[in-house]
Amino acid sequence: MTYAAITGWGKCLPPAILTNHDLASMLDTTDEWVVSRTGIRERRISHVGLEELGYVAAARALAAAGLPGSSIELIVFGTCSHDDQVPNMASGIQRRIGAQPAAAYDINTACTSFLYGLSTATALIRTGVVRNALVIGAELISPFMDWSDRDVAVLFGDGAAAVVLEKSDEPQGVLAQKLGCYGESREILRVQGMGGLYANRGVLYGVTRWQFEGQEIFKRAVQGMSSACDDALAQLNLKADDIDLVVPHQANLRIIEAVAKRTHVPMDKVYVTIQDYGNMSSATVPVALCDALEAGRVLPGSLLMMPSFGGGLSFCAHVVRWGARTKPIQVSSVDLPPNDRTALEIIRECLARKQRASAEAATPAW
Ligand code: UT7
Repeated sequence: MTYAAITGWGKCLPPAILTNHDLASMLDTTDEWVVSRTGIRERRISHVGLEELGYVAAARALAAAGLPGSSIELIVFGTCSHDDQVPNMASGIQRRIGAQPAAAYDINTACTSFLYGLSTATALIRTGVVRNALVIGAELISPFMDWSDRDVAVLFGDGAAAVVLEKSDEPQGVLAQKLGCYGESREILRVQGMGGLYANRGVLYGVTRWQFEGQEIFKRAVQGMSSACDDALAQLNLKADDIDLVVPHQANLRIIEAVAKRTHVPMDKVYVTIQDYGNMSSATVPVALCDALEAGRVLPGSLLMMPSFGGGLSFCAHVVRWGARTKPIQVSSVDLPPNDRTALEIIRECLARKQRASAEAATPAW
């Protein structure tokens, strides 16, 4: 049988840090509220575009796998915050890593995009269509944030990470998965202003309004992630006890704790990064995976479980067997261009640009 082992991994976090205290200087919120309700203490704000974040993560993952970009046969870019809709993000990465003429496509299932991408890339390797793949989860949410809405502005951050998959005869990589979607609830998480519905209707691109029913999303997230974990484990006749480490989507610490309780996994087997990065949508799980590897929490042969949920409302859980190597083969020298602005300065510049553009346009006709 053919499997798709994860042989490389790399992350890219922009350096500018936005703390809860920074947010409290521009919004009616407090560090105490954000920490107690979400577990988030700070998040990153990017000074570069999405392709740059994804490229640096990709270069680091390729180095960790010891593979040149030119050997990659498939690039899957998971995101909901594209630089452009056309051309797609994956083709930009293909050009940057020199992987012509590899297949290159984007996936958008919001926060689950990386894991959905992992599923499709694994399937194409296991069925012999390609021999390897680069799967990226990257988001640049800050330019699309409504910085006047405290319900959402405190939750999200920017970041990217990538993995390299290679064909293997060993039972490694994704062994079982459950993918699903609660389409009937799709309106409870909606970002208006980012699509064709708004084209030529006086709405400025990037001026968004977030429709966000936090408590309903919370309930559906716990339900979807827990049931997907149970389903993926059952496919392998495994129990929660057999899992060495859970690397979940990080949207709210209380959601993570509720899923752990429902699936009977103790919190010391759950890897939590939300305090440092907030919710980076599709980048959250692969960044947490990279951090867990760096922290020595992923051991040779570890069995990992990765549950996630996002807009749609999509949900999923993957059971992944790690291989023998937990250290990178090489370390990439690729890095982001330097940044001399604070996170608040980056946000204020973005707001000033929007204000200038708004002054020249009609009022958004939602
Ligand atoms: O990856 C998918 C993305 N989506 C999610 O992850 C969302 C999942 N949902 C959640 O994480 C939680 O529901 C939230 C963190 C969004 C909200 O937590 P909550 O415990 O459900 O709070 P709430 O919405 O019930 O609000 C409680 C109070 C309200 O005030 P009143 O009506 O009780 O006076 C809010 O107006 O907290 C207020 N509030 C805030 N206060 C200070 C809401 N946001 C803030 C804020 N700072 N940032």
